Amino acid sequence: SVVRRTSTSGASRLTRRQFSSEAAPERKVAILGAAGGIGQPLSLLMKLNPLVSTLSLYDIAGTPGVAADVSHINTRSQVAGFAGEDQLGQALEGSDVVIIPAGVPRKPGMTRDDLFNINAGIVKSLCTAIAKYCPNALVNMISNPVNSTVPIAAEVFKKAGTYDEKRLFGVTTLDVVRAKTFYAGKAKVNVSDVIVPVVGGHAGITILPLLSQATPKANLSDEEIVVLTKRTQDGGTEVVEAKAGKGSATLSMAYAGAIFADACLKGLNGVPDVVECSFVQSNVTELPFFASKVRLGKNGVEEVLGLGPLSDYEKKGLEALLPELKSSIEKGIKFANSS
Ligand code: NAD
Ligand code: LMR
Repeated sequence: SVVRRTSTSGASRLTRRQFSSEAAPERKVAILGAAGGIGQPLSLLMKLNPLVSTLSLYDIAGTPGVAADVSHINTRSQVAGFAGEDQLGQALEGSDVVIIPAGVPRKPGMTRDDLFNINAGIVKSLCTAIAKYCPNALVNMISNPVNSTVPIAAEVFKKAGTYDEKRLFGVTTLDVVRAKTFYAGKAKVNVSDVIVPVVGGHAGITILPLLSQATPKANLSDEEIVVLTKRTQDGGTEVVEAKAGKGSATLSMAYAGAIFADACLKGLNGVPDVVECSFVQSNVTELPFFASKVRLGKNGVEEVLGLGPLSDYEKKGLEALLPELKSSIEKGIKFANSS
């Protein structure tokens, strides 16, 4: 009625209905690196997610401010900020999902592997704490180089006796987000309808979009496929160069991280047919970790899905990426076991 509309607008009623939390179980999500370029918008997006009941924001500094700010948003979750290592345990305790965007980003001219020396140690120490305080949490690893930080996490968890391959994920959703955007632009199809699997890893040629499987189908030429593949592989570098020394993708990454965490939460809550690409322990190739489509469920990974039919161009891309991906994985394992 008109009277009702004066007290609550149509838009805000819709928002309230979408954010209704009645049926959703309690879920705690922790973000490690929450005061950073990714961490802040990701904190915002997770605050908007009605599946979250507790949002725990951790960083070495700055999180009380981020938490106070985000906590004023009138959505379901209770927000708490934790700063400094002595508060890490409290930040993690009881978490169902831990998202890790902690670490340094690239500057122009750097590869993701150039971040290894700093980020490997950060990831190792954060994963040591996860093993202690929330060993059953699903871990969403964003920190680069993902091709090495995921194996580092696995080794840390193995040493602690808490490793469950179903609960460790390298977040490659941004590659999928980019592939969808670039494909839709070239194929002139509605971007919200597009599905494109992206497999392999998360650096340069290890990122392999399977454009032959993209839907809605479009008759793209071989040259167009090559251009789209390379743009997806170099998407991160495109942003690093455009930001000209001020870091790498943060906003699109926060969006992608929020999509992936939401899929993990839906899986935990028993929603059927939740499928996302992720870099996980895998038998899809001879490598111990590989990104492919993964079905998410109540225990994390329910099923690692195969590659499906590949074009000749994709077969060549797959062959070409394996040696680099193998050496990045081995570098991570070696670091975790030698330091
Ligand atoms: P940033 O420098 O803006 O933020 C990083 C945050 O991590 C900072 O707030 C910093 O204080 C925090 N941090 C550092 N050490 C920490 C520790 N020991 N514990 C907790 N927090 C710690 O960087 P950013 O732009 O947010 O990027 C973060 C990481 O994400 C980088 O490694 C970047 O390469 C990576 N990244 C990955 C993807 C992907 O697709 N997986 C996409 C974009 C960026
Ligand atoms: C990305 O793909 O945007 C991230 O991995 C950040 C980077 O360094 O490119």
